[in-house]
Parts: sequence; structure tokens; C-alpha cells
Amino acid sequence: MRAALAAATDDRLVYDLDGIGRQYAALRTELPGVAVRFAMKACPLDEVLAHLAALGSGFDAASPQEIAQALRTGVPPELIHYGNTVKSDRNIAEAHRLGVRDFATDCLEDVAAIAEHAPGARVFCRIATTGDGALWGLSRKFGCSPEDALRVLEAARAAGLVPSGLSVHVGSQQLTAEAWSAAVDSLEEVLEALTWRGIRIDRINLGGGLPALGVLDRHGHPLEPPLDKMFAVIREGMARLSAASEVPLEFLVEPGRHLVADHGAIRAHVARLSSRRQLDGTDADWLYLSCGKFNGLYEMDQLQYRLEFPTHPGGQFVNAVVAGPTCDSDDAYAQDGLVRVPRALASGDPVWIHSCGAYATAYTTRGFNGFEPLPYLCVGGAGAADGAAGGGPA
Ligand SMILES: Cc1ncc(COP(=O)(O)O)c(C=O)c1O
Repeated sequence: MRAALAAATDDRLVYDLDGIGRQYAALRTELPGVAVRFAMKACPLDEVLAHLAALGSGFDAASPQEIAQALRTGVPPELIHYGNTVKSDRNIAEAHRLGVRDFATDCLEDVAAIAEHAPGARVFCRIATTGDGALWGLSRKFGCSPEDALRVLEAARAAGLVPSGLSVHVGSQQLTAEAWSAAVDSLEEVLEALTWRGIRIDRINLGGGLPALGVLDRHGHPLEPPLDKMFAVIREGMARLSAASEVPLEFLVEPGRHLVADHGAIRAHVARLSSRRQLDGTDADWLYLSCGKFNGLYEMDQLQYRLEFPTHPGGQFVNAVVAGPTCDSDDAYAQDGLVRVPRALASGDPVWIHSCGAYATAYTTRGFNGFEPLPYLCVGGAGAADGAAGGGPA
């Protein structure tokens, strides 16, 4: 990765496929026997998907387009599920036509649509979580209450579907282990009530939410998520759920950022380091980069990425607000989260932005302010491959 960043003479995103592979292997070691369905939305690049597929991963897809892309890796449809609870009749019919038979759901209307457009399919019901402890809680838009989960899966059975499982998502970039123990409490409650009603599910999907390790909070402090504790709580939760079930349970996870975030980095350059008096009379240093919220760093409003200035390892520093290149004031780190940067930075100097591999390519705009999507390079794996993050040749 560092060699590829150093060799780059222009801006680009670099993915380390071997690093992603190691992350996948570590996850499999921490959660033995748990099937991995990579949440494609976190990094929908063909090379990354093909690499994970070759290692045995399946895919969590959010749309028929993602399903079609996953199938192009050669994985069978049984290793792909439609994990988005939000889908139109047409989306469901298309997924079914592509061979997918596992659908997430969380409401009666969606169950009726799946029964009509994907008859006989298996459904897993997503239970709502609070999202507490996560940088991005996914609490309101998705998932139903434990009581509704019973109604949803009973309706699925009555409609000729197979009520096959339950799922949760504890929120993205989850920072607490407690979020998983609370999710397991809800799952256990529903599992027991389902058993009582004669519905025996055999799959538990523990969702995404596992964190990236190399990012900082909005103020520049390391986040340090307790990963070991999280895995211990998840293992303990799986044992608890297995004990509560009358049939053997299959467990799945659908991580996105955890597999790719720390193995993607951007080589960008300095647009300008400048100092301006602000309206409140204070002087502020601003470091404008060639890359920001709209071309690779979409999450910069909630977190900071680690920056490295390879041509300025030492010297004097200033504390600056870091911002992207567009005429949009959201294209900046929080203004109370100053970053220590070399005073001598000049326009054109390279900057390496670490741990930005998750949600970087897909959230890129198609040329906001004229800044095109960054080209990307995958290193490691079977060999290096070039591409353009927004599609089209580099
Ligand atoms: C259904 C589903 N699964 C998995 C993920 C991946 O989440 P993360 O990147 O936090 O692991 C998401 C993210 O939005 C999601 O919506």
C-alpha cells in the first residue's frame, strides 16, 4: 500500500487486496463457522468483490443492480441475499429472476410484495436497534419491534413464504460491545416467542456495524473501538441464541466498512495552505486538499482520516482546518477539530489519506464542481488493476 501511494504521481484511491483478504481471514477466525456476506455498498469495486468471492465470501446486496454485480464474480445466488428492507415490486421481481431467494423484510406490506413477486422465497425479519454507540445509527428507517417481527413472520408463513431468520444492524462504525448484547437480547426474545408459536427459524444475521480501526473522531481523537470485546460478546450471544433455539442455527454477518476501510487510502495533493482572519477576529489556517467530501471523503463531517505528508516528515507545524476543494462549506472537517499540518506545505505536495476505503467510491459525486471521481488502483491479490472510482476507464 505505501509503495503504491509513494509511486503515484497523481491523485488516486489505492486498495490493498491482500489487506482486505487478511481482514476477512481475521474475521473468520474471530467468528468461527459464521458465514460472511460482504455488504457491497461499502466498496462495490469488481476487483474487491472478486477477491472476497475467491476467499469464500457471499454478498449482502441492496438492489438488483448489486445482485447482478455480485453474480458477475461467479458466486452462486445462494450466497447472495437481498438485505435491503426497502424495495419496490419491480426490485423484488428482478432479484427473484436473478435467482436470489433470501430477502430481508420488516413490514407486512413488504411481505405481501415478496409473496407475490418472489413466491416461496425465504425471508428474514430485521429487528430495530437503537443505534446507540454508533457513528451512524440505522435506527429509524429500518427494522421493526419484536412484537411486529412475530406478526411479520407469521404473515410470511401464511403467504407461502419461508420464515427463515432474524437480523439486526447495530449501526455503522459501532463503538461499543454493549450494542451487540442488547441486539442479542431482542433476538432471543423474538426467537423464543416464535418457537412458542411454532415458527422455527434457522438463521440469525448479526448484520454489519463492525468498525474501522484507523479513523479518528471529529475532533481528531483516536476512536479505539474495543474489537476483542465486541467479538467476545458476539460469540457469547451466538451461544445464548443457540441454546434458546430448538433447531441448529446458522449465523451470518454482513460487514461492510470493517473489511475495507483500513485497506483503502487516497493519494491526494495540497491545493493550498492559507491563513485568513475570520469574522470573529481570530486568524485561522485552512488546508485545502484536492480531495474532500464529494470525491472520496464523504464521511468527513462525522470523523477525521489520518493524514500523512510524505514530503514533510518534520519541521514546523500549524493547526489547520482541513477542507476539500469544492465551493461547498460542508466539504470540510469540523472547525473545532484542528489538524496539525506542516507549515511549509506548498500547492501540489502529496498527501496520503489513510483508512478511507469504506464508502469512498460509491459516495463519490459524478463531478461536483468539476472534480471527477478519483481513479483507483488495486494492489496485491492476483495482481494490480486500474479503474475509475466513478466508472469508466482510468
Ligand atoms: C443491511 C446492511 N447491512 C450491512 C451494512 C454494512 O454496514 P457496515 O459498513 O457498518 O458494516 C449496511 C450499511 O448500511 C446495511 O444497510
